[in-house]
Order: sequence, then structure tokens, then C-alpha cells
Amino acid sequence: MRKKVIFGNWKMFKTNKEAIEFIQDAENKLKLPNNYVAGIAAPFTALSDLKKVSKNIIICAQNCHFKTNGAYTGEISIPMLKGIGITHVIIGHSERREMFAETSETVNEKLKSLLNEGLTPVFCCGESLEIYESKKTIDFIKEQIIKGFKDIKDSDAEKVIVAYEPIWAIGTGKTASPEQAQDVIKSIRDILSNIYTKDVASKIIIQYGGSVNPKNVNNILSQPDIDGALVGGSSIEVSSFLELFKTNEK
Ligand code: 13P
Repeated sequence: MRKKVIFGNWKMFKTNKEAIEFIQDAENKLKLPNNYVAGIAAPFTALSDLKKVSKNIIICAQNCHFKTNGAYTGEISIPMLKGIGITHVIIGHSERREMFAETSETVNEKLKSLLNEGLTPVFCCGESLEIYESKKTIDFIKEQIIKGFKDIKDSDAEKVIVAYEPIWAIGTGKTASPEQAQDVIKSIRDILSNIYTKDVASKIIIQYGGSVNPKNVNNILSQPDIDGALVGGSSIEVSSFLELFKTNEK
């Protein structure tokens, strides 16, 4: 059975002090339901200290460079992240694709490098409002996945976490309905089945992201192909982050 994986993505929020206070408080209060995994993608400046105070919350990076080292001013390499114990890295977030020239080709390089180094990539994909309205979502996502997963072998593909985040739902309060999100995520699993095998695709964790909050999270996660959430706004306060883990069963 696939786990339910809920990661907060703080984006460019929180000083180191604020980040430490959050994780200490959240670790004390977190009641993780069976089969759930919790994580926070924090700014680079906080990662090292957060690794020291975290216990059950996975500390994730929000980006990396695909080269081991070199003249890339301002970039952070995978060995640097690995050196402080980071195991998970978000790549291809739409904000990086739109504002920082991330392309499917660079995302593919990052995916390959992360898997070679034994880290878990959180591979983001998702369409703009324009693509959504012109009903080209599946074609667009298919291209992002085919290009992003180029030359990734079966045994590596199953280790990737995919996050489907429609851009029109990010930070807008407009969530895709659970059924809409399920339809696209099911299509993503079918695309992965065609590239790999049904068995490989059935092992891949696929999250939904875009205005997920404590009120809608359980409906979203009740969909058969949705294995978790990538959460921006509702992961900033400890209380709302913790509420994401309150399942209906309890
Ligand atoms: P919001 O939850 O604020 O819509 O952000 C989603 C997101 O981009 C997470 O990576």
C-alpha cells in the first residue's frame, strides 16, 4: 500500500530562528496517523539546523543544481545537501519553471543526479490556467513527464515522488475538486505505466498541490490515486500544518 505523504513547502518564508521554533513545536505536537509521512521543504539557510532538531518530520530542500560542483554562483549542489543529511529535494516547481528559467531539460538533469546520489526527488508538474481552459492539461503534463523522466530506469522511477500542482490552484484559494485532481493524477499514473510498467507506476507516490488546507485535505486524499499533498500557505503556521494530519478515521 502506498503511503500518504504530506509535505509543507515554505517557499521563501521563515528565518532560521522561525524555522527552528516551528519544527520544535510541530515535532512535540505531531500525531502522525499510520501510514502517513510528514515533511517540510525549508529554505536552504535553515536546512542544516532543522536536520538537528527534526525527528519525525522529513526536512526537504526546495531546489538543487544538477552538477556536483563548479562555477555556478548562488547555486547549491546535491553533495552539499547530502552532506547535511538531506534526503528529499523538490525539483521543477512551477514557480522555478516560471520565474527562474527551470526547463524540463534541467529538471531531467536534476532528477538523474538526485537518483544517482540516492536522494528522493519530489518532481513537480502542472499546467497554467490558459492550458487548463483550453483543455490541454493532459497533453501538457504528458510532455513534462516524458521529458522529465527521460533516461530514468524503472528501478529509479519508482523512487520518485510526483507532485501534480495546477498553477491556477497555487496560492489562489481555487482548489481543483478532488475528482478533477483524481482524474489528472490517474492520467499521470497511466502515462507512467506506458513509459515503465503498471507495477512501477503503481508504486509511485503522486501528491496533489494547490490550495490544500485542513478543510479539504481529507477529501483530496480519499481519492484512489492521490497519495499525499504538497502544501504552501497552510504549512506556514504550526496549527494548520498539524491539522493536515487529522484524518477522518480518528
Ligand atoms: P499553496 O498551498 O499555497 O496553494 O501552494 C502550493 C504549492 O505551490 C506547494 O508547492
